[in-house]
Amino acid sequence: MPDIEGTNEAKQYYTEIPQTSKCYFLKGSNSLDWGMKNRLGRIFNPTSGNTVMLAIDHGYFQGPTTGLERIDINILPLVPYADTLMLTRGILRSIIPPDTQKSIVLRVSGGTSILKELSNESLAVDIEDAVRLNVSAMAVQVFIGGEYEKDTIINMTKTVDMGIRYGIPTLAVTAVGKDMVRDAKYFRLATRICAELGAHYIKTYYVSEGFETIAASCPVPIVIAGGKKIPELDALKMAYRSIQEGAAGVDMGRNIFQSDSPIAMIHAVRAVVHDNETPETAFELYKTLKNKKS
Ligand code: R5P
Repeated sequence: MPDIEGTNEAKQYYTEIPQTSKCYFLKGSNSLDWGMKNRLGRIFNPTSGNTVMLAIDHGYFQGPTTGLERIDINILPLVPYADTLMLTRGILRSIIPPDTQKSIVLRVSGGTSILKELSNESLAVDIEDAVRLNVSAMAVQVFIGGEYEKDTIINMTKTVDMGIRYGIPTLAVTAVGKDMVRDAKYFRLATRICAELGAHYIKTYYVSEGFETIAASCPVPIVIAGGKKIPELDALKMAYRSIQEGAAGVDMGRNIFQSDSPIAMIHAVRAVVHDNETPETAFELYKTLKNKKS
């Protein structure tokens, strides 16, 4: 039996100090439930407000992309420097050690390959498996203007509904078809549709003209995909500008894992995303770390 002698005297109620109630740090997320906020807070750093997601899910429609042939060899050494891993459940279960402390964003749409029409996706993971895998968010591709636009939007709204039941946020990934224009007007449309229909945050692409209007008109956080491999300094400039113009981080793959020095590059990306370093300073960091290694 617990010792209750004298405990009344020891209690301190701080009656003169009102309990505070803080606003949640992420844009548009204040009305979410505790579990949603807790999971988003494992993806986005509450101090900088931003995230460096390492995207390694490319294999789900294009097989062993350059740099992802051996995730155990090429990607595991990068994991400590990412805030979040974005990947499929196949790679998660087969390669990522379950004692990882990293948050996981699970790709839940799929069903197509580069050999066919890419927008013809379905939901490819059951919500119960996302719960079993203790993921921090589910990612679903949305092809606005694509051949199967409506199906992919409904994939997203179903994911949002299922996720709300279990407190798991949904990341809507705005996909671009081969022949689509990638401009601010298109991405304002795509990101806003995803947010209006319930996505908790959205991945889109950076555009050099008008990105700030995409971020401003989207009521939830935006992260940018890296896109195809470009020179390191250019990728850092893109990441920097996106943050300055309203993005809350990057979901970057090829520009990290296809870099000459992926570990140096992810450090440099972190410097831009979390520490507000200029691309030039971050590039110096990249070169120093790259040279140290060799
Ligand atoms: C692409 O299919 C995946 O959704 C990737 O996660 C996304 O494109 C980001 O990777 P990257 O920076 O290589 O474009």
